[in-house]
Amino acid sequence: MNLSRPDRECLAHELDQFDPTLPLDRAQRPPVSWFLDPWMFQLQQRYIFRRTWQIAALQDGISEPESVCCIQIAGHPMVLVRDREGVLRAFPNSCTHWGTQLFDADCASTERIQCPNHRWTWNLKGELRIAPDTPDGFCRAGMHNLKSFPVREWGPFVWVCMDSDPPDFAETMGSLYERGSHFAAMEYAGKDTHDIHASWLHVMDNYNDGLYHRSAHPSLAATISPDYRVEVSSHFALQYAPFKQESGTVRSGTARYWSLFPNTMFNESGDRVLDVNVVEPVAPDRCMLHFYYFFAKDVGSSFREDSTRSSRETQGEDNVLCARIRGGLSLSYDRPGSYVPDKEAAVFRWHQLVHEHLLPAAYPPSDELL
Ligand code: FES
Ligand SMILES: [Fe+2]
Repeated sequence: MNLSRPDRECLAHELDQFDPTLPLDRAQRPPVSWFLDPWMFQLQQRYIFRRTWQIAALQDGISEPESVCCIQIAGHPMVLVRDREGVLRAFPNSCTHWGTQLFDADCASTERIQCPNHRWTWNLKGELRIAPDTPDGFCRAGMHNLKSFPVREWGPFVWVCMDSDPPDFAETMGSLYERGSHFAAMEYAGKDTHDIHASWLHVMDNYNDGLYHRSAHPSLAATISPDYRVEVSSHFALQYAPFKQESGTVRSGTARYWSLFPNTMFNESGDRVLDVNVVEPVAPDRCMLHFYYFFAKDVGSSFREDSTRSSRETQGEDNVLCARIRGGLSLSYDRPGSYVPDKEAAVFRWHQLVHEHLLPAAYPPSDELL
């Protein structure tokens, strides 16, 4: 559904304050509304998070036939369902009768989907099979089947896109795509969640900012060469640098930090340590950052503990920094700010992508308005 004309004009006003075509040394950061305004936040959920591939769950949690797993995508309650033949689908966790929540457990096994309210019952393909007290042929009409959304299994995760016409998955993943089987072979070692009092976009700015690492993370900086590079592609950025440590230690080789638009990060230390971060926006100036830890199978427990502790320490430094960035802004103080050339190319790219995703809502093709 298109925005109303006043809403389109209002959004156009917010977007037109940012020029994505300028070179980095002359570009200005977006207005503060992109980071703090509740209405802009709703539009970002609708036009960015519901139209991009999102990590929904670990594959391990939904690997068995006839299993279900409750998830949330961009604020929407959803359910992953694997049928008897092993086919995985994503449905709204919502009955097609009154919208009652269908499942409330995290993960469970089941042979069917049954609404707790009037007992409408679907098979695991989402086809309505039983609807008590309804006329003959009611189920066969197919009008009350559950609508499935696109799903992919890549690396250790299940990914869902809430758009029925999703972006090409492999193209979105770029050079990361080839590493899927390597990541999938690593051992999952647990998850942390950080509650951050800042916009999801500030968290991504902070991550994509290759400049501040040396001052913001003194202990991390001590292990990584100052020869830090940032490469920006269509939907992702890669920051990388060699570790200073001698070869042969677990954390040796190259540190590679990929960010994938809009909200996912893969942090690889050498090829035996990986943590994956997902930013879940929950309010204009608040988000949850989920950390998933993975190690090569031969990495010992004391290294795992040290590594996890140092990830928490580094992220704790970032959480404080993000809250300080948010604390320095208000909607009435609308000075955009600038970018540091070279170092902040990935930060700028994220702002260009936010602009690119919201622009069609402000300026829809004229045939959509008829
Ligand atoms: S609300 Fe689900 S069957 Fe009526
Ligand atoms: Fe950081």
